[in-house]
Amino acid sequence: MTTQTTPQNQSFDVATLMGSQSDWPIMKAAADMLDALGISNQARIISAHRTPEKLRDFALSARDNGFKIIIAGAGGAAHLPGVTASMTLLPVLGVPVAGQSLSGQDALYSIVQMPGGIPVGCMGIGAAGAKNAALLAAAMLATTDETLHVRLQAFRDDMVANAKDVPVD
Ligand code: RP5
Repeated sequence: MTTQTTPQNQSFDVATLMGSQSDWPIMKAAADMLDALGISNQARIISAHRTPEKLRDFALSARDNGFKIIIAGAGGAAHLPGVTASMTLLPVLGVPVAGQSLSGQDALYSIVQMPGGIPVGCMGIGAAGAKNAALLAAAMLATTDETLHVRLQAFRDDMVANAKDVPVD
């Protein structure tokens, strides 16, 4: 199951949004992890400030279009996750992307500090945060999907089995 990077008339469990093409090297870690777990997903570039109408259309129809969880990565004054969350009841997981300055702390604070009432689950900065967003989305979906639960457990078991006991040069 591969990531769909172009819109198609098809249903996906997870949407991976990002504000810019420049976010893709980081957000690809989410898409790759979703692919590895066999979770149908679609990656889209939608900006809260450059293409707000596109975001509105996407967010208001996301649930009707079959999405169950939205991952949204952005850098700078990263309002994409929060604005998306304001227009849907689907869970939104925000990923802060490091930009040219402030090492992504600007995006982290923007995403994590949502005023009470519109929740966004804030992940860590960068590729690890994107990967964990996919794993958290998988865990949420696995609560009602036994086959995914088994795949997620296998991923965890592999990680444990491959953990080294001693360092090597
Ligand atoms: C944000 O502005 C994007 O999420 C990106 O992280 C940042 C910079 O965008 P570009 O100027 O590289 O397109 O909206």
